[in-house]
Amino acid sequence: MLPPESWSAFLQIDHLVLVFLISLHVGCTAAATTIGITYSSSRVAAAANATVPAAPPLPPDRVAAAVYDLKIPAVRIPDATPNSVRAFLYSNTSLLLSIPNHLVPSLAANRSSAVAWLFQNVIPFHPRARISAISVGNNLIESHPDAVDDLLPAISNVDSSLRDLGIHHISVSTTFSFVSVMTGAFPPSSATFEEPLSRTLILPLLQFLKATNSSFMVNIYPYNLYRLRWEIPLGFALFQNASFMYRDDLTTGARYWNLFDMMVDSVVAAMAVAGHEDVPIVVAETGWPSSSQDRTEIDANGAYAEMYMKGLIRHLRSAAGTPLRREGVAEAYIYELVDKEVKHGGVCGRSWGILYPNMTRKYEYRLEFSWAYRLGHWGDMVVGLLLVMVGSLTWVI
Ligand SMILES: *[C@@H]1O[C@H](CO)[C@@H](O)[C@H](O)[C@H]1NC(C)=O
Ligand SMILES: *[C@@H]1O[C@H](CO)[C@@H](O)[C@H](O)[C@H]1NC(C)=O
Ligand SMILES: *[C@@H]1O[C@H](CO)[C@@H](O)[C@H](O)[C@H]1NC(C)=O
Ligand SMILES: *[C@@H]1O[C@H](CO)[C@@H](O)[C@H](O)[C@H]1NC(C)=O
Ligand SMILES: *[C@@H]1O[C@H](CO)[C@@H](O)[C@H](O)[C@H]1NC(C)=O
Repeated sequence: MLPPESWSAFLQIDHLVLVFLISLHVGCTAAATTIGITYSSSRVAAAANATVPAAPPLPPDRVAAAVYDLKIPAVRIPDATPNSVRAFLYSNTSLLLSIPNHLVPSLAANRSSAVAWLFQNVIPFHPRARISAISVGNNLIESHPDAVDDLLPAISNVDSSLRDLGIHHISVSTTFSFVSVMTGAFPPSSATFEEPLSRTLILPLLQFLKATNSSFMVNIYPYNLYRLRWEIPLGFALFQNASFMYRDDLTTGARYWNLFDMMVDSVVAAMAVAGHEDVPIVVAETGWPSSSQDRTEIDANGAYAEMYMKGLIRHLRSAAGTPLRREGVAEAYIYELVDKEVKHGGVCGRSWGILYPNMTRKYEYRLEFSWAYRLGHWGDMVVGLLLVMVGSLTWVI
């Protein structure tokens, strides 16, 4: 998928660097990314032979209270149920609901099953719960490959059912996993979507998203890519900006300081190849595990997870965007709010939550999801950030 020789071509080492970085964002109009979190109501262990007893579901109102406490403006609910949506009534929390993959074939076959799902999960709560978007499926390509042909008809049925019900402010899309749809992602400018998916699914989907003002949703895990590619330095995946740690895309002249931006720009470039570079991007999942039952995953630890969250949030809130997309991603949802016992889909035994199962905080650092923590907007006037690094060279290939 990602040719091994391509990465080293972007390795750039500066021996004596004087980086003088001045950013002046006075009256800057680019809006920062909305930063949200994933809250999954199901904590049931996925594996049938799991040794841990399935935890009882968290009471949704406790979860909504935690979201309020943490001042998180947006929540993604991957397994939406009436109870989980109801908990956010009158909360002004923006909600991204996902329809489970196993429902996609029936939604595609039968418009009335789309209407039925909406009558159960949306109509009773709209607009008192602020549902902003619905993702039909999540990484369906990997988990239900036989249903891929049903995806577009299902999206279309959900969308037209919403319009028939007179609801116009909820957009409809689906969510992909970065590694299952991208090919040749390094450098970003060479990225394209996998064939034949690109032609049969993604191109018509992009046309639909464009026509309906919806977003392209993708799960972006620098952690997974870092584990696949030994030559990616850890600090580059963890937003540890250092003067010697960057990658240049020689085609576009863009310089990358972190893996997240490279992955986002790969998606931007692939969309441009498909002729739709202006569709907004939503990162439906991103995160770093704080532990893993697999002892060989030494980078799944609390210190790195905290570095990733801090770095990601600081980066997104700076509204710096990415080299190929000035406004950056529209929304990004951290995976996830509360640790699960066992995660679905073959990555069992990793903990991704920012809260322990008993709902206490895992990280001392206060994750600032929104401006609500600060008074005023002095952040819009970040002037004079000075960074001097002399002759350092800590990693070599
Ligand atoms: C569950 O079964 C799979 C394969 O059958 C095995 O690899 C895995 O270790 C088992 N998990 C537990 C917790 O026993
Ligand atoms: C609700 O949230 C939106 C955006 O997140 C914000 O613009 C608006 O002021 C909020 N409304 C209230 C009443 O807090
Ligand atoms: C369509 O879905 C509705 C509601 O889910 C169900 O009652 C009906 O039998 C379905 N029709 C067909 C042809 O599958
Ligand atoms: C999409 O947004 C544009 C500009 O905001 C608006 O004119 C258009 O009506 C919208 N289209 C739909 C389908 O909502
Ligand atoms: C919550 O769980 C964490 C991790 O298991 C533990 O360290 C902490 O003491 C617990 N807090 C409470 C109040 O039970």
